[in-house]
Amino acid sequence: MSPPGVQIPLPPPGFYIMEKERVVLITGASSGIGLACAKMLADKGYIVYGTSRKASYPPTTVKKNFYMIQMDVTDEGSIKRAVNFIIEKEGKIDILINNAGFGLAGSVEDTSMKEAFEQFNTNFFGVHRVIKEVLPFMRERRKGYIINVSSIGGIIGLPFQPFYSASKFAVEGLTEALWHELRPFGIKVILIEPGDLKTEFTQRRVFVEKSQKSPYSAQMQKTISIAQRDETHGSSPEKVGKLLLKLLRKKNPKLRYQVGPSYEKVAVLLKRILPEKIFLWAISKYYKIG
Ligand SMILES: NC(=O)c1ccc[n+]([C@@H]2O[C@H](COP(=O)([O-])OP(=O)(O)OC[C@H]3O[C@@H](n4cnc5c(N)ncnc54)[C@H](OP(=O)(O)O)[C@@H]3O)[C@@H](O)[C@H]2O)c1
Repeated sequence: MSPPGVQIPLPPPGFYIMEKERVVLITGASSGIGLACAKMLADKGYIVYGTSRKASYPPTTVKKNFYMIQMDVTDEGSIKRAVNFIIEKEGKIDILINNAGFGLAGSVEDTSMKEAFEQFNTNFFGVHRVIKEVLPFMRERRKGYIINVSSIGGIIGLPFQPFYSASKFAVEGLTEALWHELRPFGIKVILIEPGDLKTEFTQRRVFVEKSQKSPYSAQMQKTISIAQRDETHGSSPEKVGKLLLKLLRKKNPKLRYQVGPSYEKVAVLLKRILPEKIFLWAISKYYKIG
């Protein structure tokens, strides 16, 4: 209660509504994890802008609170256009979820520089490009969330997916460093590390050109078919949505969250506690190498 005669200023019109309806930008929301998270957040009242390379301009309404906006994370111009549109329309972006990505399969030796760069261009430089456009607006308000979708492949080097793993290891390093840089600005930085999830990721996996006819072909196919089997029997992408809703309610979220089948959480734990040689041997055995 205020002392008699003291007037407490009222917040500006729309203040409470603006704070409640948090604005989310999620890249790669046309399928899989991005689509599931976008729908679940929109159902809870968040204003969600999902991106796809194929979306049209101006944004289209998918359902109440969920709009699809065109963006290619490899194209700076398309990122600027989408971010400026959202800022003009909503006045802010509270939560950025860097989710767009794809998988590349093929041995290190068979992968060309161009193929390796394309993998990094989307999975790693794409994350950097979007963060650079969104951050100035978040910094100004001294609040926000940057949530980067990594992978179990960003913790464990996956055989015959070396550049996919490398791009996610890179996302892990960037995000951990960013956590420190943004702490003084009150911006929360989070890594989501999914294990196998049933999405379009498996069908969309790109195989390097040389992979069909190389000394590695037979082994690569054996190993990748195990990875694909695990993905098609994986958890549903809604599991990531449930995790997101939970961590967005936390006052002090952690840097890293794993999500997916529990055996993969065990694998990550084993990597931490087992002697390295034993862990590497177990991974090799699992993927039937040699
Ligand atoms: N599924 C899994 O088992 C799994 C496991 C660990 C981590 N992940 C990670 O989770 C994220 C989402 O994958 P998902 O499983 O949901 O796969 P998905 O169903 O294939 O969805 C990938 C999304 O990324 C978008 N995308 C791809 N390249 C893009 C680009 N250059 N610019 C903008 N958007 C782009 C696609 O949108 P358009 O094609 O419409 O542009 C699509 O919406 C990825 O980062 C992936 O590495 C997945």
